[in-house]
Amino acid sequence: MPYGSYGTYGSRLAAAMTRRLGRECVYTPSARLALYLALRRWCRPGGRVLMSPVNDDVILFVVLAAGLRPVQAPVSVWDGNIDPAAVPEPTWRDLDAVLTTNLYGVPDRVRELRDRCAQLGIPLFEDAAHAIGTHVDGQPIGTFGKAAAFSLSKHVAGMAGGFLAVEDARTRRELELLRDDLLLPGRLRDDLAVTLRPLARSGVRTLNLVRPVWRTMQRLGLLERDAYRMPLRAHRLAAAAREAPGLPAYDPWVRVDLHGYRERHGPLVRGQLGVRLARLDADLTRRRAGVSLLSRTPWASPELRASTAHDGPVALFRVPLLVQDRDTLVDRLVRHGVVAGYVYDPPLDDYAGAEFVDPSPDPAAARWFAAHALPADPLIAPKLATALRREHTKPAHPPVGTPPRVSGHP
Ligand SMILES: Cc1ncc(COP(=O)(O)O)c(C=O)c1O
Repeated sequence: MPYGSYGTYGSRLAAAMTRRLGRECVYTPSARLALYLALRRWCRPGGRVLMSPVNDDVILFVVLAAGLRPVQAPVSVWDGNIDPAAVPEPTWRDLDAVLTTNLYGVPDRVRELRDRCAQLGIPLFEDAAHAIGTHVDGQPIGTFGKAAAFSLSKHVAGMAGGFLAVEDARTRRELELLRDDLLLPGRLRDDLAVTLRPLARSGVRTLNLVRPVWRTMQRLGLLERDAYRMPLRAHRLAAAAREAPGLPAYDPWVRVDLHGYRERHGPLVRGQLGVRLARLDADLTRRRAGVSLLSRTPWASPELRASTAHDGPVALFRVPLLVQDRDTLVDRLVRHGVVAGYVYDPPLDDYAGAEFVDPSPDPAAARWFAAHALPADPLIAPKLATALRREHTKPAHPPVGTPPRVSGHP
């Protein structure tokens, strides 16, 4: 029996997630593979998927790899999520699916999106990679749509692992088979790396070595990205489209930041993820405390401030603080031992262009949000707030006339 293949793959982790969520779950080595599975299961190649342009570029490539056309939605200037009211009627009628982002854990207008998708008879997919601790009216994000993807690399810093949550056991079994076809054999050496890397990372933090380690990696060219977005390589991407749908041709893009995204990790990795998942509630409590602190700073959006004061803090993955001169700040924060990841700038339509995506009919809000959002890790809220004060960070305010968010939380 090859290393790591025992019983239904990842069934113990999936059962733990099912208990949390109340939905059937399939374990996957990454959220990106979970999304790919959902897109392949429910969308015919050539279909059109509405998504926010303020998103990880990897997700754009997952949609392309599934043979689908990414349609960029107008977004809310406050949180970068799809603004359903601003999507033109003809665009709705031409869609085959909708993919939410729940950016940084702030929920999408999921009830409006669910109702709209039901009317149109198309699936709603929830990207819950940032939103494992987010609820809307007491209902967890990830239980509104046809399927939802979760990432253990995010909330529990696992450097691997994810889930696809679906509506019933029959669909789960079907997707387990689809997943097994896509998994690549695991290797003990990779499993050791995946297990040890998070420990090394927390060691670097504890020892206050973030700044020298990050700068050295930057100088030696060891970082996979030297800008917020990976290089597009348009010629190669156009050539890959001839092979879509399928993952191999898109592998150079889809694997960025997580090369083992479709690797069949063994018991070492899955055991470690089980331990981390068991600690999730404690982690979410610490996140809420950090969100509470950051929501009271001058850089929090009025929406976040009001919703936190009214409903209590949400356990966000990152708090999108709105700041002036964000890029200089991101660089300067390294001196304070803070590496701000998950900046999604420029928006995907500006990044990829009309050859690869349908551009948003109204790109201004996405551009503004992408340029001013500083994703602040609530787990280091006091340190971050001190650093921002020392840097004399000025809050940014959206252009005058921006309507407040109409519904949803925060
Ligand atoms: C919004 C979003 N969705 C999905 C993913 C993919 O998660 P994973 O790294 O587990 O594949 C990411 C990764 O950063 C993300 O930011």
